[in-house]
Amino acid sequence: NKGNYEHYMQKEIHEQPESLKTTMRGRLIRGGSCKAKTVLLGGLKDHLKTIRRSRRIVFIGCGTSYNAALAARPILEELSGIPVTMEIASDLLDRQGPIYREDTAVFVSQSGETADTLLALEYALDNGALCVGITNTVGSAIARHTHCGVHINAGCEIGVASTKAYTSQIVVMAMLALAIGGDTISNQARREAIIDGLFDLPNKVREVLKLDQEMKDLASLLIAEQSLLVFGRGYNYATSLEGALKVKEVALMHSEGILAGEMKHGPLALVDETLPIVVIATRDTCFSKQQSVIQQLHARKGRLIVVCSKGDAAAVSSGGSCRVIEVPQVEDCLQPVVNIIPLQLLAYHLTVLRGFNVDQPRNLAKSVTTQ
Ligand code: UD1
Ligand code: BG6
Repeated sequence: NKGNYEHYMQKEIHEQPESLKTTMRGRLIRGGSCKAKTVLLGGLKDHLKTIRRSRRIVFIGCGTSYNAALAARPILEELSGIPVTMEIASDLLDRQGPIYREDTAVFVSQSGETADTLLALEYALDNGALCVGITNTVGSAIARHTHCGVHINAGCEIGVASTKAYTSQIVVMAMLALAIGGDTISNQARREAIIDGLFDLPNKVREVLKLDQEMKDLASLLIAEQSLLVFGRGYNYATSLEGALKVKEVALMHSEGILAGEMKHGPLALVDETLPIVVIATRDTCFSKQQSVIQQLHARKGRLIVVCSKGDAAAVSSGGSCRVIEVPQVEDCLQPVVNIIPLQLLAYHLTVLRGFNVDQPRNLAKSVTTQ
């Protein structure tokens, strides 16, 4: 049921304040005056000790689910102190890459039925790793075959392009980082700031959804373009990959997410006055580096669209003209949840304006159950 919306993808984008609330329901505990704020993931509580002892955490997934894990990687590394590596399921299988008994392998899948992810799960089980699932589908193959896991509880997602599942996956993995990370005095303030940030996240998402018309206006300017680049780094490297994936899969426009730190090693050659480039430059420890990327793109007369924190329009547009999209600032590790939303809206409006099928893009399936 699409309710008052024209398409499922549109409904699912606008549903995110509610889906995120459902994802967090019963799992965040804001203690009394002397009780610390904490996270409770029922499906993992008996396995946390084993996970903390593992030598490595390996995230495994495909498409949007892989991107969600990439967004959560920095906070998991920071809070757990355990090395975190990333695997695209098919690539792990192609290489028969090493997976050990001392590894915790985390399988991220909205549907819980993706063939490559499932085969990678069988492979990791054979190699003796502790296998953890993060899925939206109770009773799915991945939920059944993993040793333990977390249901993201985002509600049924019908649009082939994943939107609300992506933001709920990131939130679950941020909670996973809090659950695995020790509750030491030195990181208490950081943990509390993240938990407060999680409580407030649905409000911030509601606020950023007000950019709908602005993103529709931007889409109308980009409607006839051949290509769109998206530059990000740090917490928002994943945002650049996921934003580009949305544009590619539904709007059928070539789009590439680029790690901004790699700009000089190739992508800079593409920059001219015509190619539109989105730069994610919200406030975090990478901000000054992103400002310098923007300066270098301005110097080459790049056609920029900058996503920045509220109040930073002047700081990012000095040195050249660009279109600025201001988003509310949240805790750095949660910023990818906010930042992807204008790009979801852009992909949606671009698709509708270009006259393509937004809920069932050409050649794609919601769940890829064959290799
Ligand atoms: C569970 C209940 C929820 C109830 C809550 C009350 C289910 C599905 N969930 O939620 O309805 O409100 O207790 O405390 O009945 N699992 C895997 N692999 C996965 C995902 C999950 O093995 O990929 C396992 C978990 O380890 C756990 C079970 O499935 O044993 C349920 O997981 P989850 O729904 O996340 O647990 P709770 O949030 O505790
Ligand atoms: C398909 C979908 O390619 O599978 C994508 O079209 C999705 O939206 C990908 O990200 C992975 O699916 P899942 O269910 O394993 O998260």
